[in-house]
Amino acid sequence: GSYAGIQLLDQQSRTLVVPGSTAVARVEAARSTSGKVVQRTLTAAPSTVDLGGRVVSTWAYDGSVPGPEIRVGAGDLLQVRLVNQLPDPTTVHWHGLALRNDMDGVPDLTMPAVAPEEAFDYSFVVPDPGTYWFHPHAGIQLDYGMQAALIVEDPDEPGGYDEEVVLVLDDWTDGWGQSPTKILAGFARDGMGSMAGMGGMDGMDGMGGGMGGVSSDAPLGADTGDVAYPAHLINGRLPQDPVTITSAPGRRIRFRLINASGDTAYRFAVGGHRLSVTHTDGYGVEPLEVDTLILGMGERYDVVVEVGDGVFPVVAAPEGKPDPAAMAVLRSTPGAAPAPGARPTELDGRLLSYGDLVPTARATLTAKDVDRELEMTLGMADGGRRWLINGATFADRQPLDITSGERVRITMTNRSMMFHPMHVHGHTFALAGGTGTGVRKDTVNVLPMQTVTVDLQADNPGQWMTHCHNAYHAELGMMAVLSYT
Ligand code: C2O
Ligand code: CU
Repeated sequence: GSYAGIQLLDQQSRTLVVPGSTAVARVEAARSTSGKVVQRTLTAAPSTVDLGGRVVSTWAYDGSVPGPEIRVGAGDLLQVRLVNQLPDPTTVHWHGLALRNDMDGVPDLTMPAVAPEEAFDYSFVVPDPGTYWFHPHAGIQLDYGMQAALIVEDPDEPGGYDEEVVLVLDDWTDGWGQSPTKILAGFARDGMGSMAGMGGMDGMDGMGGGMGGVSSDAPLGADTGDVAYPAHLINGRLPQDPVTITSAPGRRIRFRLINASGDTAYRFAVGGHRLSVTHTDGYGVEPLEVDTLILGMGERYDVVVEVGDGVFPVVAAPEGKPDPAAMAVLRSTPGAAPAPGARPTELDGRLLSYGDLVPTARATLTAKDVDRELEMTLGMADGGRRWLINGATFADRQPLDITSGERVRITMTNRSMMFHPMHVHGHTFALAGGTGTGVRKDTVNVLPMQTVTVDLQADNPGQWMTHCHNAYHAELGMMAVLSYT
């Protein structure tokens, strides 16, 4: 149990040596609460899941992909018992929440991993409203279908919509027949750089050679159907048998979009409709009309759509990959459903860029002088066996020390040809430099050869991961820790 040379877990007592634990308790005690308690149990287990005509063996929460949505209000006390029935240790990370550090779910950094047949009780006050999600922070388990929406409702929500639909976007590789640990070991040995594409790897099906020497002893990937993998899912369904959203003309739907994939950025559009973007990563933006937008891994957008007359494809096209798009169907009248592979022209229409987004007044980070500047240069080495921040992998890196109360500016420079959706735990940063207009996010897709500058307020003490949300890049080194007490 050590990260980057810091011993955080006392292996004898299995207790954590969390620097700043009194500060963590103080921050938690100062949070405003609703007085409401929400209790859930989540069981992580090997599961057989129907993806819509294809039944696969995988790992999941409560036997479904995505797992069960958790819905709470801001200020509620959320208590979740995680029961681990997997053969591997696991945790739950609550992506995007500025929660107390010791509930952040990073094994050996904020908590011991939950061993097979053990359980762990998460308990924390949910800080801010918005669209979030949760997943393990253990290897590439999230890419096996362990992922679900976490919706934090806002009592002061201005509204402006009639109904709400959560869409979880995911990439699915099958037939690899191996445990996540072995898959990762194969990449560490054989690399993944040759599969470099704009959006991620050019598809895991190109991976056969890389995985050749890894023995297959886990009951995964039993599917032998005629679906071409990788395939892409909306709410766990293949385009062959999509989810149907039934509505009525003129109704306003708020879509909460979550990219929960391991390795795919998605271009999202609704045929025949424009999208009014209202939030990203949970925080409000001044409503803006576009035809399409790209979500990097880990990113969320909320968009409002005014339903037209007809039956429409809702698509998430893998960016920079040739695979067929994920699809759902929006229906307001009788009629034939669009065929899988439908490609609405909106995908080529006006594309959202970060520079277009203006935060709402309540989502604006208070202006303040920058106290500390950090640089993170992102790159690849050894044909993709290692993914680097500032020339080193996680194993060789010391924590980035900052001080409580500081305004921290992080400049992220992508020196590779791949997307790196960079995520900071426990904070929501403002896009500051370049095209930045100050929009608040927790995951920013740093495009090939681009630089993004973000500002955050160090107001939530602890050990916080910051990493690329390509699950493979992260596990092969593209992670760091921000540390303060
Ligand atoms: Cu979804 Cu370390 O994060
Ligand atoms: Cu990356």
